[in-house]
Amino acid sequence: MLNNLNIELKKYFTKKKERIYYNIFNKLHFKFIANKNTNNEQIKKFLDKGFFKTNINSKNFATYISNQIKNQFIRPDNFSFYFNIDDEMKNEIKSHVNNKFGNLLRELEKLYNSRITIAKIAIKRNFSIEKNINKEFYSNFYHLDSCIYTHFKLFINLSDIEINQGPLHIYSKKDTKKFIKVNKYKSRDKYEDNELNDLLIKNTGRLGDSFIANTSECLHRAGSVEKDYQRDIIVITFIASPEIINKNGYNFFFYEKKYPKSIWLRDRKIIKIVKPKSLFNIIKLFFEYYKNKLN
Ligand SMILES: [Fe+2]
Repeated sequence: MLNNLNIELKKYFTKKKERIYYNIFNKLHFKFIANKNTNNEQIKKFLDKGFFKTNINSKNFATYISNQIKNQFIRPDNFSFYFNIDDEMKNEIKSHVNNKFGNLLRELEKLYNSRITIAKIAIKRNFSIEKNINKEFYSNFYHLDSCIYTHFKLFINLSDIEINQGPLHIYSKKDTKKFIKVNKYKSRDKYEDNELNDLLIKNTGRLGDSFIANTSECLHRAGSVEKDYQRDIIVITFIASPEIINKNGYNFFFYEKKYPKSIWLRDRKIIKIVKPKSLFNIIKLFFEYYKNKLN
């Protein structure tokens, strides 16, 4: 038992140290590399709160995806399920990202002063969970994704999503600090559970609505799906790449050739770029971003 406690404590302090280093990295990157000047209202919101609902219409796209997944066999023994993405779906996703989200992503490239690339794409269904069991079934405990802030996620609704379908719950950057204080937040399984209802944002919405969030600076969780309901979404994880990709043009799928399993099969090779594991690697990464910045 003592041994277990020891391991837990070690894990807790390693995480805490990592979070401190990542915060320093974020501050330095924001001061010396990021471009804060923008006229774009959505980017302003992203800077201020850490998230925003996009004004992009993905209704046709979301209808197409939800029709494609309708007949897939679903393992019934799990609380969430990742759908298979076939080649035709891949092409639809690619052209939707390029054509509809291209302008917005280029604004985010200006902000991060680096090329934006996709790290992971998942089409996911969450099923209902028992209300009274205090257990993490899917990411339904509050957490910050453990990576630096050059990482963000796009969530597209694959149906109308009402409150009983477990929409994403998220606090702004500022309110995250409040939540941490009020709830004596230590880690995803050690905090008091007092929801700050006036400050909490629940990402309910219509089919095809989409939401972009910085999930490493905004405390968030998947809402619990209620009995007889489910939630279908597509989640696209982006990173600002520290590499020189192409100074003159963008390619959101740049890493697809280099890491063929990462984008579509969710292995962690690309995402690891924004999860440096030692102080040396964090410093190295900062200088890589600095050396290769677009402007
Ligand atoms: Fe998360």
